[in-house]
Amino acid sequence: MDVTWILLIIVLYLLAVVTFHMYVRYLSAQRHNFDPKYLPVIVEPWYCPFLGPALALMDLESAVNRWRARFGENFTVFILGKFVTVLTKYSDLKTYYHAPEEALSLGQAALVLLGSAFPESHFIKDHNSVPHIQRILTPRFLRQTAINIDQVIDDYFNLKNGQFWEEYGNGAVVDIFDFVYRFVLRTNSASFTSHRIYKNHVTEIIDLFTTLDADKSFINPFTHGIKTRLGIRSERDIAWEKWVNLFVPEIEHCVKMIEDNIQPKGIDFMYDTVKYAIEDMQRHGKTLTPRYIAFLIYGIFFPAQLNTYTTLAYVLLEWIRHGHDEIGHKLQEEIDSAPPPGELTIDYLNSLEYIQACIYEVIRTHTEFPIAFRYAAADVQLADGKFVPTGNLVITPVTRAHELYVDPYRFDPDRHLKPREEMKADPYKALPFGRGKHPCSGEKYVKMQIRVVLIRLAKLCTMEIMPESIDYEKIVNKKQLVGLSRPTKPVFVRITKQC
Ligand code: HEM
Repeated sequence: MDVTWILLIIVLYLLAVVTFHMYVRYLSAQRHNFDPKYLPVIVEPWYCPFLGPALALMDLESAVNRWRARFGENFTVFILGKFVTVLTKYSDLKTYYHAPEEALSLGQAALVLLGSAFPESHFIKDHNSVPHIQRILTPRFLRQTAINIDQVIDDYFNLKNGQFWEEYGNGAVVDIFDFVYRFVLRTNSASFTSHRIYKNHVTEIIDLFTTLDADKSFINPFTHGIKTRLGIRSERDIAWEKWVNLFVPEIEHCVKMIEDNIQPKGIDFMYDTVKYAIEDMQRHGKTLTPRYIAFLIYGIFFPAQLNTYTTLAYVLLEWIRHGHDEIGHKLQEEIDSAPPPGELTIDYLNSLEYIQACIYEVIRTHTEFPIAFRYAAADVQLADGKFVPTGNLVITPVTRAHELYVDPYRFDPDRHLKPREEMKADPYKALPFGRGKHPCSGEKYVKMQIRVVLIRLAKLCTMEIMPESIDYEKIVNKKQLVGLSRPTKPVFVRITKQC
């Protein structure tokens, strides 16, 4: 290539960079970001603003540390066409977690980030499914689902619905994360659909959810968005149609019950969901569609799956790993004292504090850098008098907060129990289930679920990590953006039937 061409390319590139800076700073709808009233805005590196911040996503922790060192604890970065304010200053975290939805909105942030990766995401804009989830997860619901989960486990291993032992013989080697992923979906299908759907379609639900999984498409909804615009039906579109159709007969049945004023006999998730959907649609002056109900069901499956299966898989791995030491003995003591199937009560399950401490410890040790995110629906004032401008995404890293803990790299459940309770030293740095306006709606459910599964699996089988997977920590991806860190390859565990 001759010199003229090289010079021309350099000039054109510099022109593009200057145009980009001019547009962002003076012409774009969000140019107010550069007003001194707001936090400093980083568009770096200046010579490659198109790619640099995007690459930072691959190691956000290092990028945030670098930016923090240069620009202070709170700052805004222009990344993938969006202004993202990063808050790391402790005094502002309280504001962040307690800001009302009208100021810092989780729903709108999900809409911006997930976009079309979340099926029927247009519903997120006007409808909030969280009140429905909160309303449904009552103590009565928890009591019933504890019994159901107990039954599902028994079914899965011993009866027609799962045929685990029949399929694998008395011992099987499984990838524990994949096994638990499907197992959690199985128990959630029993909790969050209906008995008929669980009984006849559980495998289909698991497969469809796996195809639809918005977690895989998180912050990468572009491909799906482009396909939708071009009218190309993807595998996910087809799966979504099947997901909707799966629920239609049940929805029609519940609508008829509601019209005829017939109450369900016991806990009925589908009935409650249809009832909520009818009321919600009436409030918005819209007509009920099965798609909205299918969206609500997916909207509970999604958060109920994201971190649960990883937490449960790590709890099982820690239980196996500590089989012969004090941690293992304390866990086993709680497991052994459990009453037989069908007799587990919520009060009893809640009394199992050591298992709860293991859940907290698993979340703590595998939370490398997940971000909590919100959308600034209004200007938000911070402690130093600066503002987060309306329209920005606002994130805060939730890390292991090593400084709070004694010997932070050790797996030590006792740190979460009296008298130590190290987590309480700073409630805004240690938040396994969130805090403020958006604490986890499923906390009680998931603690119950993990306890029941652990107790029952311990009675049904023994587990052993296969030699090739003993060092599984080495293959854990610690640079994940959302959710607990997960291994990048299978972690093999042998499951053997208890005699
Ligand atoms: C070990 C498993 C789980 C962990 C570690 C976890 C963690 C969290 C955290 C940290 C938040 C707050 C996010 C934020 O502030 O940005 C959250 C929110 C939420 N979680 Fe969970 N969660 C788990 C399981 C579940 C389950 C099983 C469900 C449903 C049954 C659920 C439903 C939700 C919902 C609906 C929200 C949003 C609440 C709102 O917007 O007000 N989660 N979760």
